Amino acid sequence: PGSAREEADGRVLVGGVGLETVAARYGTPVYVLDEAEVRARCRAYRGAFPGACVHYAAKAFLCRAFARWVEEEGLGLDVCSAGELELAVAAGFPAGRILFHGNAKSPEDLRAALRHGVGRVVIDDPVEIARLAATVDPGRRQGVMLRVTPDVAAGAHPKIRTGGEGQKFGLSLRDGHARHAIARILDQPRLRLTGLHCHLGSQITDVAPYLVAVRRLVGLMSRVRDAHGVLLPELDIGGGHGIAYRPGDPVLDPAELGRRVRAELAAGCARAGLPVPRLVVEPGRAVSGPAGVAVYRVLAVKRGPRRTFVAVDGGMSDNPRPALYGVRYAPRLLGRPPAEVAETETVTVVGRHCEAGDVLAEDVPLPVGVRPGDLLALPAAGAYHLSMASSYNLVGRPPVVAVADGAARLLVRRETAADLRQRDVGL
Ligand code: LLP
Repeated sequence: PGSAREEADGRVLVGGVGLETVAARYGTPVYVLDEAEVRARCRAYRGAFPGACVHYAAKAFLCRAFARWVEEEGLGLDVCSAGELELAVAAGFPAGRILFHGNAKSPEDLRAALRHGVGRVVIDDPVEIARLAATVDPGRRQGVMLRVTPDVAAGAHPKIRTGGEGQKFGLSLRDGHARHAIARILDQPRLRLTGLHCHLGSQITDVAPYLVAVRRLVGLMSRVRDAHGVLLPELDIGGGHGIAYRPGDPVLDPAELGRRVRAELAAGCARAGLPVPRLVVEPGRAVSGPAGVAVYRVLAVKRGPRRTFVAVDGGMSDNPRPALYGVRYAPRLLGRPPAEVAETETVTVVGRHCEAGDVLAEDVPLPVGVRPGDLLALPAAGAYHLSMASSYNLVGRPPVVAVADGAARLLVRRETAADLRQRDVGL
């Protein structure tokens, strides 16, 4: 995280708190969140997209305190389940600033969205139109957007490319799929169509795909105006902004994205004779990712004939990303003075789970002499680690600790064996 400072003795402070201190107090593995960095990132987005709605994508990571930080910084929230929604509402997040997503929303999801009064529901399939309208109380109108597929596939891995044809999200701009759905939404007196939505993919490091999507969506807005005489006031370009997992990785700069998307939108709308809609953006990873660091303890160092394995006390249960997407991380050893860590060797950092694929970082340099009891930090761990964590091998999920101004505070406690046993109710 931005506030990380290294002391002369090799200790690393985040938010003014030593990671070794956090590990000693809360145990390992532990996820540490730099509150100031989260807030700074929220502010950077508001600065990059003036006048726009910035909705933090809760799927990247959510707990009540996090929802509070985001709310205080003036962002909205994007949720995609009743579970995420209820947690946000429990933190006092105003439901009017929440947008509800999902390609397969359950009746419970829709009921929760309407009961809490979310600002927008993003419709992903025609079947939802009548279903949602039937759930809306008489006399009310629910704001909705329509998710479309701009046929722009971007993102770091095929599994997280969502804007192209041939994947499950949204309605195609081809063959009238999106236009038919729009006509049906406009026919529903209990729904109010506020705009179009798309999400291209995740961990995107280039502005160009967003510009193509804006052009295509403005094209559809202009066809909606021609066919129905309706001017759509909002345009949601989703999230997907790439961050650095290792030093030197390319990132997507929100300020540049904001500048170029606004210019493209203004030019497109001028050409089409449309008023410029209010932009909506949904960054998840870029808000929480760089603000988090995972801290593990080394349990074993095995020198095999081909490789040296450094085994830690977490793994694919708290971070499935290397196994799922082949993501590369840059772990670092904590608590050794710089002189002791000058010489490095290539090792593979593995987890504790019963699979050969339980690898956190393959062939990475770590100081010679790494030994059991040492602490390893994995940076850029604030997004899509804990939110995708499992309790594989009945290993409980790690706690979350916030650090700020020299103080540490537990936000989410560790999942214990008793927690896991409690759900087992039959014999
Ligand atoms: N909006 C929608 C509709 C989304 O589906 C997503 C992410 C976002 C916004 C936020 O995207 P972000 O800014 O965080 O890239 N588990 C994968 C990432 C999956 C992203 C799913 N949708 C990973 O670990 O890389």
